[in-house]
Amino acid sequence: MSGSTEHKLIVVTGVSRGLGRALTDGFIAAGHTVAGVARNRSAIDELSAQYPAPHRFNVVDQAEPKEIAEWVASVIADKGAPDLLINNAATINTNAPLWEVPDSEFSDVIDINIKGVFHMCKQFLPAMIERGSGVIVNLSSGWGRSVAADVAPYCASKWAIEGMTQALAEELPKGLAAIPLNPGVINTDMLQSCFGSGASHYDTADSWAKTAVPFLLELDASANGMALTAP
Ligand SMILES: NC(=O)c1ccc[n+]([C@@H]2O[C@H](COP(=O)([O-])OP(=O)(O)OC[C@H]3O[C@@H](n4cnc5c(N)ncnc54)[C@H](OP(=O)(O)O)[C@@H]3O)[C@@H](O)[C@H]2O)c1
Repeated sequence: MSGSTEHKLIVVTGVSRGLGRALTDGFIAAGHTVAGVARNRSAIDELSAQYPAPHRFNVVDQAEPKEIAEWVASVIADKGAPDLLINNAATINTNAPLWEVPDSEFSDVIDINIKGVFHMCKQFLPAMIERGSGVIVNLSSGWGRSVAADVAPYCASKWAIEGMTQALAEELPKGLAAIPLNPGVINTDMLQSCFGSGASHYDTADSWAKTAVPFLLELDASANGMALTAP
């Protein structure tokens, strides 16, 4: 495993709340530089005030390929290729059987959870490949390896993440890694959407990040293609 003490440039998507926000705090506290995106402008403004340069936080909608392409190009021009790219941003459908899911909601889940991750990988990978190193962690789910009623669109998206990430792992040159990661079950807005008040029985994102941050910092090319679960 590579040293978690080396300074890293870490890209995190979905930094406005939940796991992405907790990871951002944890990586910066550990001395690393974070570049992150989300849609919520006030959360991005708050992060930018709390963590000025060399960190950077921008409003980007992961459902918009052009916004992703422009942002990635500016990050690479500004800071170079990331050492660690964490594709964390995602959405979940409102609980419903598949036949009652609105078309627009199904499309959002696919556009954000699958196509957004594709575009992030596609835009960052040439620079990572040119440098010959870097780790991509794509957030999967327990529901990327099993299923539940009322979240079929979300399950479809996370099974896709598992397949896409493991196929990408077979394509990557030596020195790089693509890893699907099940983070476990954590009390965030997303969990509250599907578990309701039952979400309060689970760990907070901050407490999760205490073990997830060192675990993520230790990942290197030797983990390429492994379907991992956060400790
Ligand atoms: N919490 C759990 O128990 C759990 C379990 C398994 C897997 N996961 C996975 O872990 C990851 C984080 O989940 P979470 O629980 O932290 O979710 P969350 O609390 O709902 O946060 C989702 C994050 O993604 C961002 N996001 C959503 N749509 C976006 C878009 N179109 N463009 C840019 N950013 C977008 C949100 O920011 P804005 O709304 O500001 O854009 C927010 O920062 C997800 O991939 C999720 O599927 C979570």
